[in-house]
Amino acid sequence: MYYPEELIEEIRSRNDIVDVISGYVKLQKKGASYFGLCPFHNEKSPSFSVSGQKQMYYCFGCGAGGNVFTFLMEYENYTFVEAVKALAQRAGITLPEAEPSAQEKKEASLRQKLLEINKLAAKYFYFQLTQPQGAAARNYLEGRQLSHETIVKFGLGYSNKFSNDLYQYLRSAGYDDYILKETGLVTLDEKRGGYDKFWNRVMFPIMDINNRVIGFGGRVLGDGTPKYLNSPETKLFDKSRNLYGLNLARRSRRPNMIICEGYMDVISMHQAGFDNAVASLGTAFTSPQASLLKRYTDEVLLAYDSDGAGVKAALRAIPMLKEAGLRSRVISMKPYKDPDEFIKNLGTEAFEERIAHAQNSFMFEISVMEKDYDLNDPDGKTGFFNAIAKKLLEFNQELERKNYIEAVARQYGIAFNDLNRLVNRYGLSGYGQNQTRASAQDRSDGGQTGQKRRQEKEDAVVTAQKLLLTWLCEDTGLFDKIGDWISPQDFTDGLCHEAAVCVFEEYEKKKTVTPARIISLFEDKEEHDAIARAFNTTIRDENDKAAREKAINETVRRIKTASLEHMSKNARDIATLQEIIRQRKALQKLHISL
Ligand code: CTP
Ligand code: MN
Repeated sequence: MYYPEELIEEIRSRNDIVDVISGYVKLQKKGASYFGLCPFHNEKSPSFSVSGQKQMYYCFGCGAGGNVFTFLMEYENYTFVEAVKALAQRAGITLPEAEPSAQEKKEASLRQKLLEINKLAAKYFYFQLTQPQGAAARNYLEGRQLSHETIVKFGLGYSNKFSNDLYQYLRSAGYDDYILKETGLVTLDEKRGGYDKFWNRVMFPIMDINNRVIGFGGRVLGDGTPKYLNSPETKLFDKSRNLYGLNLARRSRRPNMIICEGYMDVISMHQAGFDNAVASLGTAFTSPQASLLKRYTDEVLLAYDSDGAGVKAALRAIPMLKEAGLRSRVISMKPYKDPDEFIKNLGTEAFEERIAHAQNSFMFEISVMEKDYDLNDPDGKTGFFNAIAKKLLEFNQELERKNYIEAVARQYGIAFNDLNRLVNRYGLSGYGQNQTRASAQDRSDGGQTGQKRRQEKEDAVVTAQKLLLTWLCEDTGLFDKIGDWISPQDFTDGLCHEAAVCVFEEYEKKKTVTPARIISLFEDKEEHDAIARAFNTTIRDENDKAAREKAINETVRRIKTASLEHMSKNARDIATLQEIIRQRKALQKLHISL
C-alpha cells in the first residue's frame, strides 16, 4: 500500500516519539533529551537518547537510530507499512483503503505469495509432526533431546512419506503451478505432475530477521543421504545474506554472537541458554553474512566442528569477519565434534567456560600454522617464526602489531626484539604490498600511510557535512547566513547530499526543517541509522558563541574547499575552471558572524 507523504507526516507528527518510546523503554530526562537503556543492544549504563525536539532517537553505544517509524520497525520487527498502520491507529487516524497500482500489485504479490506459501508449508510440516504419521520424527527429535518448547520455538516439522501431499495441499489452498514452482518446495514434471522436494525428513524452517519463513532445511531421520537437503535459492531465499537463528539471536542480551556449522547446533545452543547462536545455511560463511552480523554485534565467537573441515571453515571466516570490522575468537569443542555434542556431554557451564577461554583468532591461525613446522628442528623453527613475522604485517596499526608481537613472543618463547626486528625487516623488504607501505611509513611519519591520511581527510569532510546539517536543523536562522556559500551540491557525501537536498527544499518551502520527517524518505534501515547519526553529531562548546562562530566558519570553509576540489576534478571547460578559481579566491574572505 502506498500512502501519500503528507499522510505519513501527519501520522508521524501526531505520535510523539518520547511518548511512544516510553511505552517500551524507561526514560529519564537529562538536559534537552531523554536517556534510557538501549533496547537494541546489551548495556548497563544508558546511552540510548530520545530527543523530543528532533523527534528522533539515537544510541551512542550501538548506533541504532531513527524516527518513531524506525523505532517500531526495529523493536516490533514491523515493516514500514505495518509501523504506519500501528501509529495511525494509536493516533486515531483512519487510513485510506488499499488501492495499489497494477505494477505495485504485481511486484508485491509475488513476494507476498511466496511468503504465504512458505508459512503455510511450515504450518503443514508442524501439523504432520503432531499427527500419528509424525511419530518417527517425534522420536527422532526426542532422541536428540529437544524439548517441546524448543520444537515450537524453532517451528520444527515433518515432511511425511507421501511424495506429493504438500503439493496437493498447496494446490487445494488455491495456489497455481506457476507460483508453486517458484517456492522451491515442489518439482513440476510433465509426466508425473507436481511432487514434493522434501519427504520423510525433519523440517527446519529458515526465517529472515523479521521471523518470516524464507526456506527450509530437511534432515533424514537417522542415517541416509543426503543428510540435509536445503531449499534452493528463490526470490525470497538468498543463502548468502541470511543466517539461521538470527531472528532470535538479534534479541539476545549476550555481548557477542556465536557462529556454528549446523541447524542442530544452533538449536541445542539456544536450548542451553546460548540464545546468540547462528549458523550459515548449508553453505560456507560469506562476507555479506559478516556485514549482517556487524549490525548486531562487534564480536563473533566461532563454534565450528573440531574436525579438519571445521578448522578450514574457521580459517576462511576469520578474514571476512575482520574485513567487516568484527573481532573474533575461536571456541574449542574438543574432545567433542560440535557444540551440540559438547553441550549434551558437558552441559551449559562447561560451554560458558569455553567461551571465556575462546582463543583470539590471530593466535588460532598461528596455532594452525604451527602444525606445518617441526619446532624441534632449528630450520623448522626459523621457518615458523618467519611465517609469523609475515603474517603480523596484516596489522596496519603499529600499536596493535606490537601487542600481537608481544603475545606471540610470550606464547612461543622468542624474544620480543628478535621478532619485532624480523617483522620490520619484512616490512621494509617489500613483502606484501599494502602492509609494507604501512610499516615503512610508520617510521617516517609516525604511523600514517598516505592512504590512511586521505581517508582521514575524507572522514573530516563528511563529519563537517553532517555537523552543518545538524546545525541547520537546530537553528534555521543559519540558512540565510550560509546561503551565499553553501547549497546542496556542496554536500559531496552521497547520504549527506540526499539529506541536504531534502533539508534545503523543506526550508525553502516551509521555513522549518523536520529531521524526523527526512528519515521517512529513506527506506533502508542502515540509512536510518546513518542519518540519525548525522543529526546527532555535535560539537563541544555549543553554548560558547565565539567557539560556535569559529566552528561554523571552519566547517563551511572545509565543506566548500572539498566541494571546489571535487568540482575541479570533474571540470571539463575553461569557464568552469575560472569559476572555481573565482570561488576559491572568494572563500578566502569567508566570514560568517552569528
Ligand atoms: N549440510 C548440508 N548438507 C549435507 C550435510 C550438511 O547442507 N549433506 C549443512 C547443514 O546446514 C548442516 C550443516 O551443514 O546443518 C552442518 O553439517 P553437519 O556437521 O553434518 O551437521 P550437524 O548439525 O552435526 O547434523 P546432525 O547433528 O543432525 O548430524
Ligand atoms: Mn551434529
